[in-house]
Amino acid sequence: MTAIAHISDPHFGTENPAVLDALLGDLKGLRPSLVALSGDLTQRARTAQFRAARAFLDELQTPYLVVPGNHDVPLYNVVRRFFDPLGSYRNEITDDLAPTFNDDKLAVAGISTAHGFTAKGGRITSEQIGAATTSLATANGKWKVIVAHHPFVGPERAQGDIVDGAEPALVAFRTAGVHMILTGHLHVSFTDDAAMRDEGHRIINVHAGTCMSTRTREEPNNYNRILFDGDEVTVLVRMWNGTAFVDGDHKVYRRSAVAGREIRKQQ
Ligand SMILES: [Fe+2]
Ligand SMILES: [Fe+2]
Repeated sequence: MTAIAHISDPHFGTENPAVLDALLGDLKGLRPSLVALSGDLTQRARTAQFRAARAFLDELQTPYLVVPGNHDVPLYNVVRRFFDPLGSYRNEITDDLAPTFNDDKLAVAGISTAHGFTAKGGRITSEQIGAATTSLATANGKWKVIVAHHPFVGPERAQGDIVDGAEPALVAFRTAGVHMILTGHLHVSFTDDAAMRDEGHRIINVHAGTCMSTRTREEPNNYNRILFDGDEVTVLVRMWNGTAFVDGDHKVYRRSAVAGREIRKQQ
């Protein structure tokens, strides 16, 4: 079955080694079509932290798509932060800040929302929106998925973390027939179809917690297994229970002509 393992916010430099080992084992067992890593690879954008992230990616035995997060921009080195914010990320991880993945069922576009102007916030430009939607334009019949670090919608308390430019981006994603958006940054796990609700259009909004960092908030480490079966998709949270990743909540959505609609929810 086609599957995406959606992992986020490993924050190398603060990783829990037992969780790291278990995650690698879990991912090798699932053998997903794609590992989507939605940013904050490092804690402080240090070279050694990026090299640890690179070693992790090299261990994966599946294709992966990665985008940077705000923690992948130097916080204290102001010169680099303004003039070459993603220099270390580009040196150690990838030069490609608009990565794409395609197979017979999936069309995935990554967007880099990290920048050097604020410590935490993210932004998306009209050029980035155009590049992502253009790459998905010819993918009719496939599941169209966007991967970015900062959320486009989120809980009330997280409104300050929403990416700048979210509104025009969501309108463009709807027009391009995007079905799903994968994000991180908040270190909490949630899934809904609230990314775009407009006259029957639904974009499924999937957020992952931190997959291995000790910087957890309110919940243990987790990641999402996203299982595609024809026009149906199941988003299953895999939660760390102290010794292993185990199944948590899952939700099932059906793809309509334009986007997804939740058909069943099980706790
Ligand atoms: Fe983070
Ligand atoms: Fe972040």
